[in-house]
Amino acid sequence: MELALYFPNLGYYTRDNIEIGKEGDFFTASHLGKVFGILLVRYIKILWEKLEYPQNFSITEIGPGMGYLCEDIMEELLNEHNITTSNFQYNLVEINPYLKKRQQERLAKYLDYIRWYSSIDELFNLNGVVICNEIFDAFPVRIFEVKKGKLFEVYVTIDEKGDFIEKLMPARKETFEFIQESAQHVLEIDGYRSEINLRMKDFIEKLSKAVKRGFLLIFDYGWNNEEYYNPQRNKGTLLCYYKHTINENPYINVGLQDITSHVNFSVLQKWANDSGFKIIEYMSQSKFLVSLCDEQLLERLKKQELIDKFKRLILPQGMGETHKVLIFFKS
Ligand SMILES: C[S@@+](CC[C@H](N)C(=O)[O-])C[C@H]1O[C@@H](n2cnc3c(N)ncnc32)[C@H](O)[C@@H]1O
Repeated sequence: MELALYFPNLGYYTRDNIEIGKEGDFFTASHLGKVFGILLVRYIKILWEKLEYPQNFSITEIGPGMGYLCEDIMEELLNEHNITTSNFQYNLVEINPYLKKRQQERLAKYLDYIRWYSSIDELFNLNGVVICNEIFDAFPVRIFEVKKGKLFEVYVTIDEKGDFIEKLMPARKETFEFIQESAQHVLEIDGYRSEINLRMKDFIEKLSKAVKRGFLLIFDYGWNNEEYYNPQRNKGTLLCYYKHTINENPYINVGLQDITSHVNFSVLQKWANDSGFKIIEYMSQSKFLVSLCDEQLLERLKKQELIDKFKRLILPQGMGETHKVLIFFKS
């Protein structure tokens, strides 16, 4: 998964010509008109006030994709809320130089206010809001499998014909310790297979070091630990997206299809807490976005013909219930 998604220049997220949205393989909330950005600005303004309008307030977006959300947030802040850009800065963390170029073209109007970084390691002293929209589901995971009460990890190799094949090897120490702590019950279920996303721990620790005082907003799809390692969910959550179709085979279209797994929000919360963040909210995307809505806004969405897009963000058959929001604070 690491190689397929992130191998320099050839991985799904590191290659040239990657497209997200209609021309690509999947949609995210940022691609549903301006609604997500309009609503997020309402929330950002609340958080800005809570932070008592610090001098160096920043909005930092990790993995901004095609740059739509940044464009919508900037436009909304400047045009609808008359915020002058001299009192805030927008940081974008983009690992792919090709996407950075696309973002620079899209955001040409706002270049004076935006700063690009190629890794979260470069961020420091942030006062403000950090946004991660569908980032954690894109981290490489380890797949484990239980066989006769023993824990194995799934490795990948090639056979004599050069085809990818899976090979089970004894689980590494970290995998074993994780399962002991978070999902011991699965050791009794023969054939049980799922994922663990250890990369989240390192990532959230780095984010915590980068934030001096502020809020972290995480939007992603997933469940709490109990739901995640439900005995019935015995095939895990790994899915691949290719040209708006879903498959469960990461060994095809390598480097050309997205590979994702659902996020374990309990574990993410624990690691965030251990690294200095305090949880403020955990709720469905639907509940979060609806709480930011009022009649005036609904009227505006109707006028701008954005109601259908709003529905896709909040209805259960859209992203409303699959996607959750986690909000953390650090000071
Ligand atoms: C599913 S896409 C979401 C893109 C965008 N946020 C959106 O909503 O359209 C996942 C993004 O996470 C980014 N990503 C994954 N690991 C990252 C890391 N360590 N640092 C920064 N970005 C990362 C990928 O490059 C990719 O752009």
